[in-house]
Amino acid sequence: MNRLRYLLGTTIGRKLVVALTGIVLILFVVGHISGNLTIYIGQSALNSYAHFLQTSPMLWVMRLAMLAIVVLHIALGFTSMRENHLARPETCHAGQSWYLRLYQQRMIISGLVLLAFIACHVAHLTLGVGLGEVSRLKDTSGHVDVYSRVVSTFQNAWIAWAYIAAMLFLAIHLKHTVRAVFQTLGFFRENYFEFFEFLSWMVTLVVVAGFISIPLSVQLGWLTLP
Ligand code: HEM
Repeated sequence: MNRLRYLLGTTIGRKLVVALTGIVLILFVVGHISGNLTIYIGQSALNSYAHFLQTSPMLWVMRLAMLAIVVLHIALGFTSMRENHLARPETCHAGQSWYLRLYQQRMIISGLVLLAFIACHVAHLTLGVGLGEVSRLKDTSGHVDVYSRVVSTFQNAWIAWAYIAAMLFLAIHLKHTVRAVFQTLGFFRENYFEFFEFLSWMVTLVVVAGFISIPLSVQLGWLTLP
């Protein structure tokens, strides 16, 4: 506990914690999209995967741990950005174009959009708020019909496009986070620069394309209700 307090008391320690919590969150989105892609195998594949998660004895431990990680990531992320700004005030000066200022603030903006997205997303797809009858559906194995929840949600064009827009903010946030993680952990040396930059783009593009493909496939009629 004392070591953690000491770590959080130093600038480099705070940056390290942002990077480590960032790694856990990257692993979460990679795991989440891998599970979600089972929707292309079919209704029973996605529902069995969701059932496996929902009935795991570790579910609440994982949820609380993730909540703590998100809180740490946001709080220390804000602090790190403020410290960077105070250390290099010349990076933000009067007369700067609005799009440069927007670019400099992209992590805060995309982070806040993602926070609002996750709150709505969990209320909607996990808690079933606003889903009506669909939230009570079970499949033939008696599992919660997550497949029908997802497909009926994205049959609404507004929701589908709102998800796609939110995923663009995820792309902005993820690209920077993956790169920052490599940087903080010391991998971003000159001779590997291009390799890790390429890797950051690849992780981001694959994850975001996977997420976007689901609302898009429903809108295009490739995924339909059973
Ligand atoms: C098209 C994109 C997405 C789809 C189709 C999707 C689908 C789902 C579904 C079906 C659930 C409920 C699972 C269940 O009840 O067992 C869920 C939960 C969740 N999703 Fe997503 N998701 C998407 C994008 C995202 C993104 C980008 C994030 C994070 C940045 C995210 C974070 C979460 C979280 C935190 C939960 C709650 C997990 C829990 O129950 O503890 N999702 N998602």
